[in-house]
Amino acid sequence: MTDEALWYRRFGPPIDALTLEAAELGARPPGTVRVRMITAPINPSDLIPITGAYGHRVRPPQVAGYEGVGQVVEADHVSAHLVGRRALPLRGPGTWRRYVDCDPSWLVEVPDDLETSVAARAYINPLAALRMLETWPVEGRRVVLTAGGSSCARLLGRWALEAGAREVVVVCRSVSHAASLAELGLIPLSMAEPHAIAAAASRADVAFDAVGGPLAEALLAVMPRTSDFVSYGLLSGESFQPIPTGPKLQRFHLRDRLGTVKPLEWQGWFRKLWPMLRRASLPEARSYPLSDWRQAITAFDEPGRRFKPMLALDDAR
Ligand SMILES: NC(=O)c1ccc[n+]([C@@H]2O[C@H](COP(=O)([O-])OP(=O)(O)OC[C@H]3O[C@@H](n4cnc5c(N)ncnc54)[C@H](OP(=O)(O)O)[C@@H]3O)[C@@H](O)[C@H]2O)c1
Repeated sequence: MTDEALWYRRFGPPIDALTLEAAELGARPPGTVRVRMITAPINPSDLIPITGAYGHRVRPPQVAGYEGVGQVVEADHVSAHLVGRRALPLRGPGTWRRYVDCDPSWLVEVPDDLETSVAARAYINPLAALRMLETWPVEGRRVVLTAGGSSCARLLGRWALEAGAREVVVVCRSVSHAASLAELGLIPLSMAEPHAIAAAASRADVAFDAVGGPLAEALLAVMPRTSDFVSYGLLSGESFQPIPTGPKLQRFHLRDRLGTVKPLEWQGWFRKLWPMLRRASLPEARSYPLSDWRQAITAFDEPGRRFKPMLALDDAR
């Protein structure tokens, strides 16, 4: 049987650095569970490491992709009950491939009623949003979010309202997101409205920022000293200068929470997420065959995109 995987063997722009490689599917290492992949999303969190931005800890050669869903097709006797189940093979080798062999401790079973395209996106953004809201509770607080059109910001914003936030302002680069964000009860602002952004930031209690650069500096310049500024991404590719008299600067990286979590607590996080994901509003999933991965990445780069490109990993069967 043949496996296919999207490898990067050097750093570079993903469209240049990735190659689709076929190889004979080897024997499953003892103790692992083999998952035949169905689909995986394309997230900034998957693409940024390929560029070398985290070169100090993520080095090629690697199969790309951190999340996705599949069906368990092979397991040892102790994990035999998992065969046939849909599951997330997480925290192992890359997921942008046909088959993933995964440590069963980190494998997450998917509830039967959860849509496959939602399950495929249940890890990186939902878990980051959940952990951030647990670390910086928002009840009764005014919240500002950046990268407002992103999946992560939509989850953060909606779940912040459910957790009792007083208001949630979302700053977007593209106005194409405004209507759908307003439907969620969020207050959309364009990055091209600096005065409105400054007004919202000056009364904010907490900001969750995934953009960095000048936008982060504009928020930091006016946020109250007692507020929290949580940096969790640098989509602009630019860093920012903290302001000594400004808000408390916090950084969030999901990976920092993963180093110490034990399997029981890990599984508990997902039990908490399932009901939240059932009522979540994720962007439409748009599926691309694995062989069309270049089109998927090109679509990912479209400014104002209102869908999540997904790789169909079962299209060859
Ligand atoms: N720290 C962590 O542990 C952690 C965990 C999960 C996610 N994240 C971060 O969360 C962010 C969002 O991820 P996602 O998967 O939710 O993204 P996504 O759904 O793919 O959406 C990306 C969004 O980013 C916006 N964007 C891209 N470049 C931008 C720029 N230079 N300035 C302003 N906006 C820009 C896009 O705006 P347009 O609509 O205008 O194209 C788009 O709405 C990423 O930075 C990711 O690294 C971090």
